[in-house]
Amino acid sequence: MNKEGLALASLLLAVAAATAQVHDHAPAPDPSPAPASGVAALSPELRELFKLEMAGLQGAMLELVPAVASGDWEGIARIAARIRGGFVLAQRLTPEQREELHRALPAGFLERDAEFHATAEALEHAAHRKQADLVPFYVYKLTEGCVGCHSRFAQARFPGFAPAHEPAEHAH
Ligand code: HEC
Repeated sequence: MNKEGLALASLLLAVAAATAQVHDHAPAPDPSPAPASGVAALSPELRELFKLEMAGLQGAMLELVPAVASGDWEGIARIAARIRGGFVLAQRLTPEQREELHRALPAGFLERDAEFHATAEALEHAAHRKQADLVPFYVYKLTEGCVGCHSRFAQARFPGFAPAHEPAEHAH
């Protein structure tokens, strides 16, 4: 993983760690109106960077569909490279922040983030090779990456991923 990728991984992981800690170590309900989330536990600077990173990611995904649909291989490769390299975090994280975040990384989050960036790289290569069959597959894999991470680590932000009531085995 390159430096930028590592920086993003570190930040993402730290957020996940914070989220996990809140859930693991805060069994007593928080009386404050807005219960602290993982992101809320981060410094305001890092929270802001994280949101910018996610916004950049989302923007890139939205650009991806028309590029894929029109066989714009160069455009796809360029967008994939941006996703792989990260948006704002890589440029703005201090070495201290990076180190601090890295210490807080839970394995599950790290794996998801690494896999996500590997998929972006695979998409970039497939676009360079004009592989019209593989490109949409990797776009799907990226989307799966968003869902996989959000459903595990961002339920507070995306309540749609909160576990539904345990369905009784096929209650027809
Ligand atoms: C490895 C983990 C991970 C991956 C992969 C990931 N996200 Fe996120 N994302 C998060 C977490 C954690 C949050 C929740 C932050 C919070 O609690 O406010 C989040 C929040 C967001 C937000 C809301 C930001 C805000 O301003 O509140 C957007 C938009 C977003 N993600 C888009 C995406 C998209 C699009 C993808 C895939 C292309 C993606 N994310 C992939 C971890 C991830």
